[in-house]
Amino acid sequence: MSADVHDPISVIATKRDGGVLGDAQIEWAVDAYTRGRMAPEQMSALLMAIVLRGMGRREIATWTRAMVDSGRRADWRALRRDGRPLVTVDKHSTGGVGDKITLPLAPLVASYGLAVPQLSGRGLGHTGGTLDKLESIPGWRAELSVDEMTAQLERVGAVVCAASPDLAPADRLLYALRDITGTVESIPLIASSIMSKKIAEGTGALVLDVKVGSGAFLPDLGAARELAATMVDLGERAGVATSALLTNMDTPLGRSAGNAVEVAESLEVLAGDGPDDVVELTVALAREMLELGGVTGVDPAENLRNGRAMDSWRAMVTAQGGDPDAPLPRAAHTDVVVAESSGRLRRMDARAVGDAAWRLGAGRSVPGEAVQAQAGVVWHAVPGDLIEAGATLFTLHTETPERFAPARAALSGAVEIGADIGDGEPGAGTSGDARPLVIERVRFGG
Ligand code: URA
Repeated sequence: MSADVHDPISVIATKRDGGVLGDAQIEWAVDAYTRGRMAPEQMSALLMAIVLRGMGRREIATWTRAMVDSGRRADWRALRRDGRPLVTVDKHSTGGVGDKITLPLAPLVASYGLAVPQLSGRGLGHTGGTLDKLESIPGWRAELSVDEMTAQLERVGAVVCAASPDLAPADRLLYALRDITGTVESIPLIASSIMSKKIAEGTGALVLDVKVGSGAFLPDLGAARELAATMVDLGERAGVATSALLTNMDTPLGRSAGNAVEVAESLEVLAGDGPDDVVELTVALAREMLELGGVTGVDPAENLRNGRAMDSWRAMVTAQGGDPDAPLPRAAHTDVVVAESSGRLRRMDARAVGDAAWRLGAGRSVPGEAVQAQAGVVWHAVPGDLIEAGATLFTLHTETPERFAPARAALSGAVEIGADIGDGEPGAGTSGDARPLVIERVRFGG
């Protein structure tokens, strides 16, 4: 290693001046920061240089590997069922409003004999966390030991639980720093952050749901495409079969955003019903996961209809201490938002709906804050529907009614109601150039 490698200023200067960081420089910087041997001011400067100058694919791969190497890499290769090895496959979503897809998807994929080791986080901001949603089920427990996870994967096939702190600890430290230094918005840093956690989780295959649109982390299609391609590349370089779907997040998914309200909607999907868009995305992602896991010639919609996915769900919830038959918590207070005019609903802004759910208590503003299981927003119309003035557009749920006013403020301007031009005529349906739910698929090298 050259003397320069150990000098934080030369590492920062290399990137500041638009140079390419060598493997040794990256490995040293990530390791030194994780061990407290590089000052936060210096890592902040390096992160800002990366935001402004970018990183090439090799630099991103090295940065990601250094974050994986900062902790333990889980290994599920010894999993067996009936004496045969189990194939592991997971899904990661970049986060969207009303995105409850993990809830029906993990048991659905498990019902075809694959193992889904889904390690999740808790939500921050306008998109909720999967663990927060599941914790609204009475008794359900997010913290599992490795032995408990192993037993559940072998017996049930699906597990959704909290990621242990020894997986990619460098990412946790770097993300906390990025959060307070304006350095989150960088495709190389986002891609390496997400993929370091997924690679450390030890899955054999991974499907990424990269959201595009107003409620997404990256509203722009080109940026989302670049993020997806970067993550697929990182996964494949690390030996994880990876593909991505770019999916629309201009409009919130399904009919609800919050915690218990999203579990209730997921149960409808698992019962063979539920909103069309949630079913469509669940089936599309399941198809990708099954294909990567080597299960071909099946229609994933089938196990939603015949109850097998529901059986897997019940087994998964029960294995984690939850009671699948217990009533879900209901809010003590509800309020409604009504349509101000008649016509066709042209747009419903995902970000505004997510903000409203958050303001009602479904999400947190600082890590560690408690969330309300009962809080959320349910909407009664979707873009394309005809509505009458005075009809209920949203029902707001909370335990703390003083939250209604800020939630209503978030929703002002969230919907656009236009003249009813009629189906099939120019301009009918939703506003602008509405995108399909599944926009495109991104595969390695393609
Ligand atoms: N999610 C992550 O895990 N990391 C990022 O950098 C952004 C979103």
